[in-house]
Amino acid sequence: MRVLVTGGTGALGREVVTQLRAKGHRARILSRKPGAGADWIQGDLVTGVNLELAVKDIETIVHAASDAAHPRRYNATDVLGTRRLLAMAREAGVRHAVYVSIVGMEGVAYPYYKGKLAAEAVMREGIVPWSILRATQFHTLMETFLGGMSKLPRLATVPFKWQFQPIDAQEVAARLVEVVEAEPAGVLPDFGGPEVRDLKGLAELWLRIRKPDKRLVNLWLPFKFSRQFESGRLLCPEHRDGTVTFEQYLARRYPTP
Ligand SMILES: NC(=O)c1ccc[n+]([C@@H]2O[C@H](COP(=O)([O-])OP(=O)(O)OC[C@H]3O[C@@H](n4cnc5c(N)ncnc54)[C@H](OP(=O)(O)O)[C@@H]3O)[C@@H](O)[C@H]2O)c1
Repeated sequence: MRVLVTGGTGALGREVVTQLRAKGHRARILSRKPGAGADWIQGDLVTGVNLELAVKDIETIVHAASDAAHPRRYNATDVLGTRRLLAMAREAGVRHAVYVSIVGMEGVAYPYYKGKLAAEAVMREGIVPWSILRATQFHTLMETFLGGMSKLPRLATVPFKWQFQPIDAQEVAARLVEVVEAEPAGVLPDFGGPEVRDLKGLAELWLRIRKPDKRLVNLWLPFKFSRQFESGRLLCPEHRDGTVTFEQYLARRYPTP
C-alpha cells in the first residue's frame, strides 16, 4: 500500500514509517525539514506548501503531525492544517485517512486538547473516509514532561498525583499499521498502556536513570486541568493494550553497560 505519514519524523510517526516499510508498504514522509529520497516531501500543513505533491498517488494517510509545543499554532496546524490536508487528499482520491488522537481529552480543560477535538471534528466530516485511533500518553512524552520539570538546580518539581497510563510509541505504531491495512472504521476502541501510574512513581523511575542527584518534590498547580489529570480523566484502564511498561521502556532506551 502507498501511505503518506504526516509527522513521519515525530516520536510516533518515525515508528509508523519503519513498521510500514518492514511490512512491505511504501511510506512517504511529510516534514517541514529537507530530507533525501523520493519518499520524503518537504512541505507544511500551515502554509499548504507541497501538500498536493504529498498526497499524489497515495492510498492511505496516517495523520500524525501536530504542533503540541506551540500553543499559538494549534489551530493553524492541527485544525486548519487537517482540513487543508483532507481537501487535497479528496482531490487526489485517497481512500482512507487515519488520525491519531488522545484518550479522554474531552474531559480535560487543556488548551492543546481543544485543538485536537476540533481536528477530530474535521475528520468526522468525512471529507475522506476516516478512522480515529485515540491512544494514551507515550513514554516519550513522560520523558519530555519530566525533563521540563527537572530544570531547577538539584530539584525535580513534579505534580505527584497526575495519573497516566503511558504506552510505547512502537506499540501504537503497530496498531496503526493494522488500521492502515483495514477499512475505514470511524472511532476505534481506545488504545492504552499496560499500567496506570502516578507521576511521582514515573518520576522516581526516570530520575534514578537520568538525574539521580535530583531531589523529588511535589508541585501543586492551581489549574483545572491539573485536578483533571489527577482524577484520571486521561486513562482507559479497561484497555490495557500495550505490554511495555515505562520501566521496561527506560531499560531499553538507556541500557546499563
Ligand atoms: N505524545 C503523546 O503522548 C501522544 C499521545 C496520544 C496521541 N498523540 C498524538 O500522536 C501524534 C504524534 O505525536 P508525537 O508525540 O509523535 O509528535 P511529535 O514527536 O511532537 O512530532 C510532531 C510531528 O508533527 C510534524 N509537524 C508539526 N508541524 C507541522 C507542520 N506545520 N507541517 C507538517 N508537519 C508538521 C513534525 O514534523 P517536522 O518537525 O519534521 O516538520 C513532527 O514530525 C499527535 O497527533 C499527537 O497529538 C500523542
